[in-house]
Amino acid sequence: MIGHRIAAIPGDGIGREVLPAAQRVLDAAASRYDVRLSWEELPWSCAWYAEHGAMMPADGIDRLRETDAIFVGAIGHPRVPDHVSLWGLLIPIRRAFDQYVNLRPARLLPGLASPLRDCGRFDVAIVRENTEGEYSDVGGRFATPAGDVAVQESIFTRRGCERVLRYAFALARSRGGRLISATKSNGIMHTMPFWDEVTAEVAAEHPDVEWRRMHVDALAARFITDPEDLDVVVGSNLFGDILSDLAAAVSGSLGVAPSANLDPTRENPSMFEPVHGSAPDIAGRGVANPIAQVWCGAMMLEHLGHPEAAADVLAAIETVTADPVLRTRDLGGKATTKDVTSALVDVLAKA
Ligand code: NAD
Ligand code: IPM
Ligand code: MN
Repeated sequence: MIGHRIAAIPGDGIGREVLPAAQRVLDAAASRYDVRLSWEELPWSCAWYAEHGAMMPADGIDRLRETDAIFVGAIGHPRVPDHVSLWGLLIPIRRAFDQYVNLRPARLLPGLASPLRDCGRFDVAIVRENTEGEYSDVGGRFATPAGDVAVQESIFTRRGCERVLRYAFALARSRGGRLISATKSNGIMHTMPFWDEVTAEVAAEHPDVEWRRMHVDALAARFITDPEDLDVVVGSNLFGDILSDLAAAVSGSLGVAPSANLDPTRENPSMFEPVHGSAPDIAGRGVANPIAQVWCGAMMLEHLGHPEAAADVLAAIETVTADPVLRTRDLGGKATTKDVTSALVDVLAKA
């Protein structure tokens, strides 16, 4: 029996519905390989904030450091400003543990239809820089004689750019051998030309990868006009964030889009949480699609060294998406979170 200590943070909104659902599915998959997932439930969330005035305790990061992985639902509630909740929990975890790669695969799962007409194949891996860039706490608000001014600095370090670009090029090498780097060096005059320069340097270390850079606006259009053409897309923190919701939509729904916040050095625990948020518009109704969270779990099993269990979870997802009766509302169906979860567990029990 191999055991893993996993921090489980359901968070807010539908995170509290899809995370327990995914735990059921992962336990079913892990037990087939004599793997035991010991879940450490942590109630850190906007509700916890209302009680304690903070999103997590002062020793929160130290407690997470003791775990093998962190499994998160979603953070955010309309009653707490988003920059307070996210900079109080999710973003500090990404930074404290140097989870510099945010890997966000998106593909058209069996049976699901893209909203794009004629989207035959869609299989892209977005590699998003996850610890610096446009997401920064450097800046401020100033009252000037001409009126209020807000300044927000972006931080792009050579080390930060190189390491995520190296990861992306290596990933492209192991996939279709093609990479597009998202830039905006026509409008942004310091950071983006620097990003482009480092991209070219890292590209020179990977002569077998066919690569190009594209301005992120044109690249966004490309996701719609030529989705089949994409393989690995690498981008800064903000560009990767926006493109990953776009990729999720092309693949059918945000409800099926997973993401892994990885420290590839494995010095620190990595964190697995869906691309989607807490979806206050549908929270509490039992209709959220649990597939994104379950797929995150498959990525976590893979990361923990259990590729067979991960493959079983993905195969179960594919069996379920192929059945029109098992589609949640975001995919045009009527199934509930529970229907889909039970179906996934049943598939794993029978396999
Ligand atoms: P969202 O991803 O929560 O929702 C966008 C739309 O997608 C909504 O209509 C929602 O109902 C739908 N949707 C999302 N996930 C779904 C699922 N699993 N099944 C079915 N439908 C689903 O984005 P938002 O509305 O911009 O953000 C809501 C809150 O979540 C905000 O507080 C935001 O800051 C936060 N957020 C958190 C994370 C995170 O914790 N990783 C990510 C994104 C947004
Ligand atoms: C995501 C989310 C977060 C991000 C927000 C909630 C801070 O949108 O994980 O995609 O932008 O990183
Ligand atoms: Mn996002």
